[in-house]
Amino acid sequence: MGVARTDTRQVRTSEDVVGVRQVVREWSIAAGLGLVDQTKIVTAASELARNVLDYGGGGTMTIEALNDGPRRGVRLTFVDQGPGIADVDQALRDGFSSGSGLGLGLGGAKRLSNEFSIDSRPGEGTRVTIARWR
Ligand SMILES: Nc1ncnc2c1ncn2[C@@H]1O[C@H](COP(=O)(O)OP(=O)(O)OP(=O)(O)O)[C@@H](O)[C@H]1O
Ligand SMILES: [Mg+2]
Repeated sequence: MGVARTDTRQVRTSEDVVGVRQVVREWSIAAGLGLVDQTKIVTAASELARNVLDYGGGGTMTIEALNDGPRRGVRLTFVDQGPGIADVDQALRDGFSSGSGLGLGLGGAKRLSNEFSIDSRPGEGTRVTIARWR
């Protein structure tokens, strides 16, 4: 598996979330993802970027163009140095929100992705990685 191209974006404002959606759409098209898959990863990215803003106090998204032989894909890594998540299983459950959300973002992002991993340490921050392959 190779990484053909990479870029890192700040996620500090709502405008940054719009920028995240745009760059994920562009790179998904470049990877040859169909319209449905593009929309899945853009929606997942939007939810994760929103969480970085709402709970993580801002952070970054790194985007990577992936090659695995003829297969192509896009991987996104969201990182923040916020409070972290004490109970990740609870956070992934549909309907759980510590704020005023619907509690659908994290679980939704997982369902919309081919790969999903989360590493969160209370007091240190949160890292969420997703990938979508064509
Ligand atoms: N980056 C993060 N840092 C700290 N806590 C987080 C982070 N992302 C998610 N959480 C915690 O996980 C919970 C569930 O997140 P999820 O995105 O599923 O729901 P929500 O953001 O509360 O609501 P929704 O996304 O539906 O508007 C959040 O309420 C929050 O407590
Ligand atoms: Mg959310």
